[in-house]
Amino acid sequence: MSVKLGPIAIALFTAIGIAAPTRAADDAPPPYWAFAIGSYATEETRKGQNDDIPLHVPNSDVVMTRKQTLDIFNVPDWHPDQHPPAPDVVMRGKKPNGYSCAYCHYPNGMGIPESASIAGFSVDYIVQQFRDYRSGARSSVLPDMISYKGMATLAKNTSDEDLLAAAKYFASLKPRKWIRVIEGDTVPKTKVAEYLVSIDPAGGTEPIGNRILEVPESMTSYDLHDDGAGFIDYVPVGSIKKGERLAKTGGNGKTQPCASCHGANLKGLGVAPPIAGRIASNIVRQLYDIQHGKRTAPEVMPMWSVAAKLSQEDMVDLAAYLASRDP
Ligand code: HEC
Ligand code: HEC
Repeated sequence: MSVKLGPIAIALFTAIGIAAPTRAADDAPPPYWAFAIGSYATEETRKGQNDDIPLHVPNSDVVMTRKQTLDIFNVPDWHPDQHPPAPDVVMRGKKPNGYSCAYCHYPNGMGIPESASIAGFSVDYIVQQFRDYRSGARSSVLPDMISYKGMATLAKNTSDEDLLAAAKYFASLKPRKWIRVIEGDTVPKTKVAEYLVSIDPAGGTEPIGNRILEVPESMTSYDLHDDGAGFIDYVPVGSIKKGERLAKTGGNGKTQPCASCHGANLKGLGVAPPIAGRIASNIVRQLYDIQHGKRTAPEVMPMWSVAAKLSQEDMVDLAAYLASRDP
């Protein structure tokens, strides 16, 4: 069954007054690792570094200085041969507030834990998210999180013409395998670095608990905005299997089978976006935000009951399973 929510259905839902949820059954605080709780610390630590030394990344002939990789109005493009020509809004943006999309989502559209994988979303879905960020229908339980605020502000500063050009670009990209999932009870010690968790260079291990630790395959590549390397998701033992069961059966009415709306391979269907093989932090963040009434557009309504009864453990299981699938 595919659910295409037309304007009439939306009007009906709205007319009978289904309200967006405001709180969850299990009111655990937001999982820090899904919300990119970082700081400008690394900018501080970068002070005094020589930013003018020529740098390389694997599998690329491009040479750039760190200073160039930090330019949000001229995205470091380490692999220009691996994506179609991109419009200015994607690679350069518009000063002073129109940051370039690819700085945060990468030229390949697969993104980082703080942002989201947007390669292969439909034009309509992307345009709608902007409408929702602009109107406030899409918010967050942590609206002051710098990255969320950045995206919401950007949406307000992007013209409809630029938005359409960007949406067409990202919709044209074929999502690539971006995540390597590893199950384990014990994981390398991590710390919050900039806007993500990264493996602590001091070493050591710690229990994973109920978390997904989404760390760069290469911290150097991440640091230099190189979209040639993706992420490792450390997930709890057994979570992929539990997530698969929940996603396929709906867990005796706790939720609903995801494929009924998101398509057989969870690669998107109609108005429901692709959810397989994408940044897991964002999947959990969205499930949590939807459950807490932070996505109130009529198009999100089918998801309210899907998310309502999920515990944080369920969200981790679902995201672990989704991340393990091919995008
Ligand atoms: C400053 C960094 C930044 C820039 C620049 C940026 N984004 Fe985002 N984007 C984010 C973050 C962070 C999120 C996740 C916000 C949230 O949790 O709702 C996001 C979310 C999105 C989403 C929703 C993803 C989802 O899973 O539903 C879309 C679509 C999107 N961005 C498109 C764009 C486009 C198009 C541009 C350029 C016009 C752009 N972004 C520029 C950081 C950025
Ligand atoms: C009844 C239909 C339906 C079912 C069942 C459903 N979804 Fe959705 N889902 C949607 C729609 C429609 C959207 C897009 C909302 C929007 O347009 O903003 C969505 C959006 C999402 C998003 C946000 C994506 C993003 O990048 O912002 C996530 C995550 C998600 N669904 C996960 C799931 C999971 C996991 C399941 C199964 C447990 C599931 N969905 C079952 C219809 C459904």
